[in-house]
Amino acid sequence: MKIIIINGPNLNLLGKREPTIYGNASFEEYFESLKKQYTNIELSYFQSNIEGEIIDKLHEVGFDYDGIILNAAAYTHTSVGIGDAIKAVESPVVEVHISNVHAREEFRHHSYISANAAGIIIGFGLKGYQLALESFIL
Ligand code: DQA
Repeated sequence: MKIIIINGPNLNLLGKREPTIYGNASFEEYFESLKKQYTNIELSYFQSNIEGEIIDKLHEVGFDYDGIILNAAAYTHTSVGIGDAIKAVESPVVEVHISNVHAREEFRHHSYISANAAGIIIGFGLKGYQLALESFIL
């Protein structure tokens, strides 16, 4: 089974960025621990701060992978292009947010991803990525 985690802008700074909201762990550390727990899954990780690169990656994996775990970060709330890319591809997409976006500013309450996501996991910290992964296995 092939699963990819795609992280959007500023998530390369996890561990350093607003730790009271996003925690102290870097994503690379978390990803390594996830890979060790799920050795039977071909798990890969891509991060970009550039909207078009995220769209290109969705096109590249979206007809081949068994699942896509997507935290589009700020682009969640702005990107019609990423929303359309999810509609265009075949692989199921689970939307993840580390923080509870609904308990934050109003502009974070709308998502261009949700309408076409297979499911949504919000507010469970980094653990949300593991919960999304489990959703593809069960
Ligand atoms: C986020 C929530 C977004 O509103 C924000 O822009 C992010 C991260 C989250 O994982 O909680 O960068 O997607």
